[in-house]
Amino acid sequence: MIKRIAVLTTGGDASGMNAAIRAVVRTAVNHKLEVTGVFRGYWGLINEEIKPLGHRSVSGIINLGGTILKTARCPEFQTQEGQERAYKTLKNNSIDGMVVIGGNGSFRGAHEFYKKYKVPCIGIPASIDNDINGIDVTIGSDTAINTALAAIDNIRDTATSMERIFVVEVMGRDSGFIALEVALCGGCEDVIIPEKKFDLESICHDIVEGNLRGKLSWIIIVAEGAGRAEDIAKKISETTGLETREVVLGHIQRGGRPTAFSRDLALRLGEAAVKCLLEGKTDKALALRDGKIITVDFEFAIKKKELNVDDLYNLIKVLT
Ligand code: F6P
Repeated sequence: MIKRIAVLTTGGDASGMNAAIRAVVRTAVNHKLEVTGVFRGYWGLINEEIKPLGHRSVSGIINLGGTILKTARCPEFQTQEGQERAYKTLKNNSIDGMVVIGGNGSFRGAHEFYKKYKVPCIGIPASIDNDINGIDVTIGSDTAINTALAAIDNIRDTATSMERIFVVEVMGRDSGFIALEVALCGGCEDVIIPEKKFDLESICHDIVEGNLRGKLSWIIIVAEGAGRAEDIAKKISETTGLETREVVLGHIQRGGRPTAFSRDLALRLGEAAVKCLLEGKTDKALALRDGKIITVDFEFAIKKKELNVDDLYNLIKVLT
């Protein structure tokens, strides 16, 4: 019987994490469970940085980006000593279930921990990269796309008015998801992603050809995992002789007010996480698939997600 659960956010922050915390806490309270908030992710579990959370603790956070529980990347949780200390924190505080809000690295940690200590655990997928296997969409990815898109729309004003080429670098260490979405929705002329080989010479050739036809402004999106905007802009400028500027959007994309979509997802998954624990489910991540909430084994969720890039990539090309 579960009486007290812990909730924590780990890895890179994603907008909507606070809405998820709110839903977890309030659903748990409604089911007469006690809730312990763990600060700074697994680090807080190892170092017993915890605090009880009640209904009012999560007031006024639904619209906030980031996470009130703070978050961190914690290599120590991969060690035997770190895991033992984390387990001690759970035992000392009579915590008998966990909700982990984070990305695939966070789920990997949760899965290893579950295998050793069997503390029931449910994961809520939150990551701007949308790179969790078996999960259509993660909390924060819609917000990040919209934030990046707003910046790209602004850049387009200058690109058009001053007839320049821009190379815009967006986040995505191993994933071209954000890059593809913003390139499509921003009407960008080209996109460079880690999942696809690119040929800079041919991009330069297209730019020169376009220039001859009177197309004088270009926006090329590059995912951070595929190359640096600075290098690509330099090469384009050297090859074409045309003025090319680079913009790195960086962490602007991670924070900010969550969109309705990110909040809706967070609230629904937050409620579902507590219900799963009460039903005895464990070692699973939650997902929205075809409009329904489902569970995916951590073991599957932590495998590399193969993004089907071709359809979007081809559409971007066709519409240029
Ligand atoms: O969480 C995903 C992500 O935003 C990646 O796209 C990016 O490469 C990474 O996090 C950056 O992490 P950090 O903020 O720890 O440098």
